[in-house]
Amino acid sequence: MTQFSIVVPTLNESENIDQLLTRLFALDFSPNSFEVIFVDDGSTDGTPDKVRAWENQANVRLIERREKPDLTASILAGVAAAQSNVIVVMDADLSHSPESLPAVVIPVLDGNYDVAIGSRYVPGGSTENWPLHRQLLSRIGSWIARPICDVNDATSGFFAFRRELAQSISNNARGYKILLELLMANHDKLRVTEVPICFHDRTHGTSKLSFSHQLAYVQRLITLAGGTVTLNTAGRFAAVGLLGVLIDAIVFQWMISRDAGLALSHFASFFVAATVNYTFNSKWAFREHHAGYLQWHQFGRFLTVGALALLLRGGVLALLVYVWHIPPLLAIFPAIAATAAVNYLGSAFYVFPSKKDLPSLEMRWRTAAIGIVIFILLLRLVYFGLAQLIPDEAYYWQYAQHMDLSFYDHPPMVAWLIWLGTSILGHNEFGVRIGALLCGLVAMGYLYALAQNLYNKSTAMRAVLLLAILPIGVASGVLMTPDAPLIAAWAATLYYMERALIAGQRSAWLGMGIAFGLGLLSKYTLGLLGIAALAFVIIDPTARRWMKRPYPYLAALLALLLFSPVIIWNYGNDWASFAFQSNRVLTDSYQFSVHHLIIHVIILLTPIGFIAAVLALFSIKKQTNQQIEYRRHLFVQVFTVVPFLVCFALSTFDEPRFHWTAPIWLAVLPTIAWMIGQTDHLSTLAKRIQAAWQPTIIVCIFAYAFVSHYVVLGIPGVPYHLFTEHYYWRETAAEIEQIAAEVKNQTGKEPIVVGMSKWSVASALYFYTHGDTKLDIRSRNMFGDSGAMYEFWFPSQAPTDRPIIQIGMKRRHLEKTRTGSKGIDVEKMLEQPGAIEYRVIERYGTPVRRVYYRISEGFKGVTNG
Ligand code: GDD
Ligand code: MN
Repeated sequence: MTQFSIVVPTLNESENIDQLLTRLFALDFSPNSFEVIFVDDGSTDGTPDKVRAWENQANVRLIERREKPDLTASILAGVAAAQSNVIVVMDADLSHSPESLPAVVIPVLDGNYDVAIGSRYVPGGSTENWPLHRQLLSRIGSWIARPICDVNDATSGFFAFRRELAQSISNNARGYKILLELLMANHDKLRVTEVPICFHDRTHGTSKLSFSHQLAYVQRLITLAGGTVTLNTAGRFAAVGLLGVLIDAIVFQWMISRDAGLALSHFASFFVAATVNYTFNSKWAFREHHAGYLQWHQFGRFLTVGALALLLRGGVLALLVYVWHIPPLLAIFPAIAATAAVNYLGSAFYVFPSKKDLPSLEMRWRTAAIGIVIFILLLRLVYFGLAQLIPDEAYYWQYAQHMDLSFYDHPPMVAWLIWLGTSILGHNEFGVRIGALLCGLVAMGYLYALAQNLYNKSTAMRAVLLLAILPIGVASGVLMTPDAPLIAAWAATLYYMERALIAGQRSAWLGMGIAFGLGLLSKYTLGLLGIAALAFVIIDPTARRWMKRPYPYLAALLALLLFSPVIIWNYGNDWASFAFQSNRVLTDSYQFSVHHLIIHVIILLTPIGFIAAVLALFSIKKQTNQQIEYRRHLFVQVFTVVPFLVCFALSTFDEPRFHWTAPIWLAVLPTIAWMIGQTDHLSTLAKRIQAAWQPTIIVCIFAYAFVSHYVVLGIPGVPYHLFTEHYYWRETAAEIEQIAAEVKNQTGKEPIVVGMSKWSVASALYFYTHGDTKLDIRSRNMFGDSGAMYEFWFPSQAPTDRPIIQIGMKRRHLEKTRTGSKGIDVEKMLEQPGAIEYRVIERYGTPVRRVYYRISEGFKGVTNG
């Protein structure tokens, strides 16, 4: 009886037939247990004759097609003619070793799997003798299928499957992608296995895989993902776009010529062009996929995409104009081109998506996640070096100017990263922040892997999406503060913890030790995960077994070793950091601040994210009774709740800093992401939350793009000086330099400039005067007040008759008898203190903030009291 049918498509393979069949019939199967069906597409080299010669002596058949040659159609014809219920498809050119056939067919014959793929891209699989460009193309081909198709080798031509699965393949399927069609048409319902094979390049004949096949493949992937990307729509979109560009450029140039400014000009020209574009796109470019009616909600989406592209475009423009010094009238063209791409993809996937075969909800979430994360990363890439440093970043840059094993108020990682970044990219915002950018990527990678291990790939994509758009992840992916490496290390630690404690992998302890050590080098908060781990092994009996084995202790030792620079530094500095940190906690001023903590959390997660987190932690009904799922949820609970409880306890008597709890939510993001994709067993509240995610995500992206544009270029119509008294230090520093120059001119003496805050003002001034002038800058510790690391860098100043210029962000920082909270009488220490004055700081002609200053004729030295 025929157990399985081998379908072999052929097109001019005459030299391969004999060897293929000889080797197939030499396999350890009884000759009657399988048939070989050749489907020939009009070969001209005698292939059919070669096959016919075998027909009498073995179970071989030949189908000769007369239609237009096509690989998929040929295979389907072979399947239709097959006598058995299990089909194997393989190439005729011996690229697929007949000897691998048993491994591919047996999983399906046994009934254990619906599809078995002979895979080049699983451990043990390989390709042999393929030229580099073929390897690369094939790799890219399988790689771009990954987001929607969960196998490693989706373009393999060697696979076995149950015959009825072929029925669901679309009749329009063409070309080389039959396996992909098979997998996608039966998505979710299939049991798929991948068997490693070695792919040998053919020795006879030539490949028939052409560029148009590859294009068709990409196109099909996009359609399967829900996009209406075709040459057709792209062409028309481009035509509409060109018209748009023309309108855009004309309006832009006209406005620039009227001195309207970069920001207003490109905004106005955009809106005029967008309205015209929408009309044409809807009525013409995407007409086949949509009725072509103008609809408000569609126009809303079009504007959303357009506005996001526009906000990105501002960054591209600024980069080209301010950093690369390209004239605006030229720079607008590459800027338009870059954002046209965003616009087209946004239109094809979001505004005018494919209506006919709308992909599953799961698939649409995946596409959304990929699109949004890429957009956010683009935003970061464009803006990260344009936006000026916040004072905190300038302070950590100061750390890097005094490289050390550790620092008073933070461990050293942030300084090391800045040192590295600025060594490569120079002392500018790019150099300072590049480390944060990379940390953001590391965090995303580990969160993805964690979520995939806890749930599945779709969930993992959504988890990364959440990290990309929620405030917790946004700031740490751009701003270079200790939180950037902390979040990365936190995600990594969680990943290894799960591998060690839930999956029971011994090797995970190594990663865990490294992640934990690097995390502690970033910020001491990471220690909370150690407490959580302890709580977990106490609660969970399976994990508890690790306590009797050496690995956790070795991991702890490794972490301690990595942490040792901090210990060594503190040993040499009277344990200053530890005293500082515990002081911070055990202040004498008790203050109940739980409400602040909660408000901060709601901002960090957004209100919807906050409710979702609460639901994820406490209301998930056990879907199955499986022990493993129970343990995974316990992991999420313990690694979120335990660190949070510590923060909660602290906030009962101490004021929490805004971003303290940010990393804590990493552990629950996978569960939140999982809930977003759930369709059954949902409470009404959970359903509401689910529905609220879409607007929340859009608002977040928008806010993020808006703020980026605002701080770099401004937004026409939105006034400055809202939250900017701590910001725009480049312009502020230039003003201070001028004041200092005036003082020097009048007195003939070099003034001392003193930032009247713990470290903000001095650091920001240092960074933004670096290289230009050699101002003598100090911080307020010159007057005996606290100055964090400035106490180490500039411990004291002897009395002097050099002029003193105090600088403050607010008037009260300079007011008579106080600085900070200690009530120190600064005025007594100054010679002839002048009045407090201020100057208005302008950017591109618009006032953005004030800076306060006071000039004195000398410094008498610190007088206590
Ligand atoms: N009937 C028919 N009609 N057969 C065809 C046609 C066609 O239009 N085009 C190609 N074939 C046959 C060939 O004769 C060969 O037996 C098999 O299909 C594979 O074609 P090749 O031309 O050798 O393809 P390849 O080696 O470049 O591509 C291989 O790797 C790809 C992934 O990288 C194949 O295994 C593909 O299926 C696979 O996608
Ligand atoms: Mn081949």
